[in-house]
Amino acid sequence: MTGRLDAPLKVAGRAKYAVDHNFPGMVYGYVVTSTIARGEVEAMEVTAAKSAPGVLAVYTPFDPLELHQPPPLMIPGEAWIPLRNRDVAWYGQPIGFVVAETFEQARDAAMLIEVSYRSLPASTSLEDGLDTAEEAPELLGGAPASISVLADGVESIEDALADSTVVVSETYRTATQNHAAMEPHSAVAVWEAGELTLYSGNQGSNLVAVELSGALGLDSSQVHVVNPFVGGAFGGKGRTSVPAFLAAAAARALGRPVKAALAREQVFTATATRPATVQKISLGADRDGTLRAVSHDSWCTIPRGGSFVEETSHSSSLRSYATPNLSISQRVVPLDIPQTTFMRAPGEAPGSFALESAMDELAVALGMDPIELRLRNNSIAPPGQDLQWSSKHLDECFSIGARRFGWSERTPRGHMDGDWQVGLGVATAMFPALRFPSSVEVRLNADETAVISTSGADPGTGLLTVVSTVGAESLGIAPDRITPRLGDSKYPPGGMSGGSTATASTGTAIMVAAAEVIDALVALASAPGAPFEGQEVTYADGEVHADGRTMPYGELLRAVGRESISAVGSSAPGEEMTKHSFSSFGAQFCEVRVHRLTREVRVSRLLGVFDAGRIINEQLARSQMIGGMIWGVSAALHEGLELEPNGRFANADFAGYLVPVNADIPKVDIEFVEYPDTFHNSVGARGLGEIGVVGVAAAIANAVHNATGIRVRHIPITIEDLL
Ligand code: MOS
Repeated sequence: MTGRLDAPLKVAGRAKYAVDHNFPGMVYGYVVTSTIARGEVEAMEVTAAKSAPGVLAVYTPFDPLELHQPPPLMIPGEAWIPLRNRDVAWYGQPIGFVVAETFEQARDAAMLIEVSYRSLPASTSLEDGLDTAEEAPELLGGAPASISVLADGVESIEDALADSTVVVSETYRTATQNHAAMEPHSAVAVWEAGELTLYSGNQGSNLVAVELSGALGLDSSQVHVVNPFVGGAFGGKGRTSVPAFLAAAAARALGRPVKAALAREQVFTATATRPATVQKISLGADRDGTLRAVSHDSWCTIPRGGSFVEETSHSSSLRSYATPNLSISQRVVPLDIPQTTFMRAPGEAPGSFALESAMDELAVALGMDPIELRLRNNSIAPPGQDLQWSSKHLDECFSIGARRFGWSERTPRGHMDGDWQVGLGVATAMFPALRFPSSVEVRLNADETAVISTSGADPGTGLLTVVSTVGAESLGIAPDRITPRLGDSKYPPGGMSGGSTATASTGTAIMVAAAEVIDALVALASAPGAPFEGQEVTYADGEVHADGRTMPYGELLRAVGRESISAVGSSAPGEEMTKHSFSSFGAQFCEVRVHRLTREVRVSRLLGVFDAGRIINEQLARSQMIGGMIWGVSAALHEGLELEPNGRFANADFAGYLVPVNADIPKVDIEFVEYPDTFHNSVGARGLGEIGVVGVAAAIANAVHNATGIRVRHIPITIEDLL
């Protein structure tokens, strides 16, 4: 098994991230943010800032940069363009940009700006807005906000619930989260002859190039986005960041390269967050646990005028369990809050907290084992839909996990170990298997090497290594002969590292491109004047063959005087979408220990067993799952942005916004059941980025209930909840 190809560079500090790029004459930009949540900037006193040492320019809504709203991308939501008007729509909104010879000078000058506001009362409470919530704007795939599926003769979901022997009906809440990637959003912008090169961590450099060119009024061919390494993204770098827009426009205005990075505190307000949610779930079941009705109504926060929706009902309840009666709805509560966007397992992560907690509550109400309840309602197709899952081995995930975790030792009330109350919990994990359009170039070189290039990103997922592995397989040569290249908008458009799609999308495109370059090579070999002129030529293992004679492709290229031969292959979701439903599945197991006196919760064991099709590289796949599951612990016990009534986040820094440290995380155990899913794509991998986080928070809350008898219906769970 190949290790992570970029690991040596990263651990040795030799990987150059965006802000590690320096250019002669480069200057530094510092973002200024608002200190009210709603209203208007009346005036900005910038005289002192402008005359401070080293300052080149102070851009504000009164003296803005030239930036336009770019056209929408294929991903949900929209770009937010800074400094276009004097409106303040949230606390911490970018309202200015100071450029100076050094970073310190820019920052110091920014502190000298005096802003006066006309302030309006801000709405920041999801709870207060529930009664006046609005129907969600357009959802993924154009789905309606409300969906109802009722069995013949059933009039309403209320009737179906009333006819159920056992009903659980509860409301669950999840917190606003920030992606908090290690690398703050940043950019270095360099113009030359009217063309821009921008270095900035992102999840798809061609998408950023499209967005930036729209904002700058250029053709996308005039914008070159380079994304060498990414220090974490998780959805938070899916679109162009504020520093990228500002650095690009300021560098054009000043004729100097500009570097800009958000300070850590600014990452919490000048980027987008995961919305907070409130979810009301009702489950009705027969005495044997068979579900009769599932009702899931969701509300999420949204900035006024925004369009991104945290689709908790549509993701969890519309996919998980077989039920003859289903009703889901999605509403939004417009507030004066920062932009919102997708974050690892959008919809599924908070949605699964609610649904998988409710399933546990139903198991308790029925006096039934929670795994048995889940398997009793195992679906062969998404509820209310016709297309069956292409491949589903959730039952095996649970049976393997139960054995490995010692599930049979669990008692309905946990057990004591010294001063610790110990409990076990489980949850189902699901994440849809998707693909995006992707193009890849495969080039065979006369020196027997190959280069595989696509604009997509490796934000730490391991895609670079996957490109090498799938390329090697497709060409029948050793991986060390292949140079994989990602993160440059000049390469063929490789889609986006998001939605757990990159391996399936890029991998399939590599197979197509490899087949095409092999066709071209074979044609070259048998062309007039070539070594195999007129012969029936085949290709295998890096060599062309005909009539018992073989020749390595490099030798053939040299014989015909070529340095290389290349082909671009593309793939996109297609006919398979009309034949099956596609999802990855998993079973999350958790053991918690709650201290009898202090009420602190420690997660003491975690196991995830996943069914995600073919696993291309087990080491990388395990890392993805471990990271996701740790984030689940974080969501359950640590993370949450707290809004003050004035709209300011009370904990917008790493002192107050808690994420787990090593001492919070036990050994994380991972297993895969491996059933390659070639219904989904020819590589057979269904994608693994996001499913790791799904269900973990519920498994923890369920384990806390098992340990203490206390049901906490919100995350993060704190000590106060268990007093
Ligand atoms: Mo991620 S939420 O797949 O960009």
